Amino acid sequence: MQNRILIRSALAIVIIVLFYFALNFYNTLNNPINTNGNQSVNKPLPIPTLLEPFKTDESSSDYDIKVQKGTTNFIGDMQTPTMGYNGSFLGPVIKVTRGQEIRMHVSNELQVDTSVHWHGLEVEGSKDGGPHQVISAGSLWQPSFTIDQPAATLWFHPHVIGTTATQVYYGLAGLIIVEDENSKSLNLPDDYGVNDIPLIIQDRSFNRNGSFRYDNNMMDGVVGDYIMVNGAITPYLDVKQTKMRFRILNGANASNFNLRLSDGNFHQIASDGGLLEKPLLTRTLFISPGERAEIIIDFSKYKEGDKIRLVSDNDLVMTFNVGAEMIDNTVLPEVLTTIEKLDINQVTAIKTIELDGMGHMVTLNGRKFDINRIDDNVSLGATEIWEISSTRGMMMSSPGHPFHIHGTQFQVLSRNGGEPRENEKGWKDTVFVRTGETVRIIVQFKYKGIFMYHCHILEHEEEGMMGQLEVE
Ligand code: C2O
Ligand code: CU
Ligand code: CU
Repeated sequence: MQNRILIRSALAIVIIVLFYFALNFYNTLNNPINTNGNQSVNKPLPIPTLLEPFKTDESSSDYDIKVQKGTTNFIGDMQTPTMGYNGSFLGPVIKVTRGQEIRMHVSNELQVDTSVHWHGLEVEGSKDGGPHQVISAGSLWQPSFTIDQPAATLWFHPHVIGTTATQVYYGLAGLIIVEDENSKSLNLPDDYGVNDIPLIIQDRSFNRNGSFRYDNNMMDGVVGDYIMVNGAITPYLDVKQTKMRFRILNGANASNFNLRLSDGNFHQIASDGGLLEKPLLTRTLFISPGERAEIIIDFSKYKEGDKIRLVSDNDLVMTFNVGAEMIDNTVLPEVLTTIEKLDINQVTAIKTIELDGMGHMVTLNGRKFDINRIDDNVSLGATEIWEISSTRGMMMSSPGHPFHIHGTQFQVLSRNGGEPRENEKGWKDTVFVRTGETVRIIVQFKYKGIFMYHCHILEHEEEGMMGQLEVE
């Protein structure tokens, strides 16, 4: 009797074990690398280098940017074919000061066309780096401009018709930090790489051979299995018990991140185009593709050995390992800046933008992008109100569209007729429009030229959810 029970349970165990192995074997055969396996082998957070100008004086700086291919290690000991600026993945941080004249020397060392768009930078259309400024393989593009906007975290990425989304996915993205008199005087954490750290948050999937899997389902854009920060999968950062500033970029092709700490709150101090008027104490930060936010986390409220996780909903983004106490000379001022409101009385046009559909069906105002068509004419210096709405398309899964305008910073007037969110009361160049919502913005066009406006889900942009305006 006893023996029989024993044999039966042994048999059951053997079957379970066999089943387990079979399942595992099946999983390894199946193409995408599984998300859960690798998270214990986290790497330290890579810090992008600060790009040194190769020539500089009081008033101007010259920067070399090489767009190149390479390979990068993300998983195990596999090498992933990637692209980067002056390196194999992502790019350096370019730190500039308001008033400076900047000369960029961009050389395209890829075998294909690219362009370098300065997202958030207020410059003329011909310097903007959009689809009209293609840098063909092997050639050089040398735009120069004077920085004339408040301190902010901006970024740069390719913008060529048909390859924007894949080139960004392969690694082409970098940050620009703009400083000004005010930002320098505030005594915020601003020691780059020490207490002022960029966090470029993206998501990627991999094939079994280690190459990126760009899986375009044409619906919601390309969403990855792994979250990466500065090019490392769910990395960690050792921090002292001081205030730390993080310049967060949602550099994903399509994913929104809904950020929060595993324990405690933080202050948001800046949105896309610069400092907020006051630090905003918050527990969560929603950030859609293209948007930036600067936050301050005060690690002095934790103790040595604490592990504070930054998560997006339930997914790990990265971990902060809290170290020793340290004297902190930085401050979090009560007032960061004053933001002058754009004047409603100056508005000369009210325009509507309708973002509709999904995948192949995406449209902007009922049509798809055409580089030979100017959708809007604007006179230089004009202030306009844009009413952007996101209608429910064929499928209902999309939460909404991040809407972006080139070459300018705008202010959000209202969301569905109500007050904008607190963290949307500063300068913005990208605003998330939820499905079914209407967002009103006020925007001034201070620079001449042709500029894009589009959904920053890069697959939607590629599918034609983009228009162009001409300022003259
Ligand atoms: Cu981030 Cu049209 O760009
Ligand atoms: Cu842009
Ligand atoms: Cu979209």
